[in-house]
Amino acid sequence: MKLGELVKSADFKNEKHVPVIVAPDKVKAGEKFEVEVSVGKEIAHPNTVEHYIKWIELYIKYDDNPNIVELGRFDFSPVTTEPKAKATIKTDKKGTLIALSYCNLHGLWESQKEIEIE
Ligand SMILES: [Fe+2]
Repeated sequence: MKLGELVKSADFKNEKHVPVIVAPDKVKAGEKFEVEVSVGKEIAHPNTVEHYIKWIELYIKYDDNPNIVELGRFDFSPVTTEPKAKATIKTDKKGTLIALSYCNLHGLWESQKEIEIE
């Protein structure tokens, strides 16, 4: 079994675990832009000591490179921290943002968003 086989995905409007990426569709090469990642944007996810989102990781996969690049990792404390974070990034190449989230009861979930260069 491979780890990737255990990562789940779905439409975030129907599944509360799916990380949501909010970012521009197109950016200017080399200019900073904001990316927000969160879990529970449409359907709230529990945030209790027993059941919570432990972390979200954000990556980019450039179209011209087979390897992904980690952009950030956001750790959350149950009850007090909502699973939502923002990062300011820049790129001069087209690629796909990938968010990976971890629920302590329901495992790994992913989503993607393509970023075009103007
Ligand atoms: Fe969960």
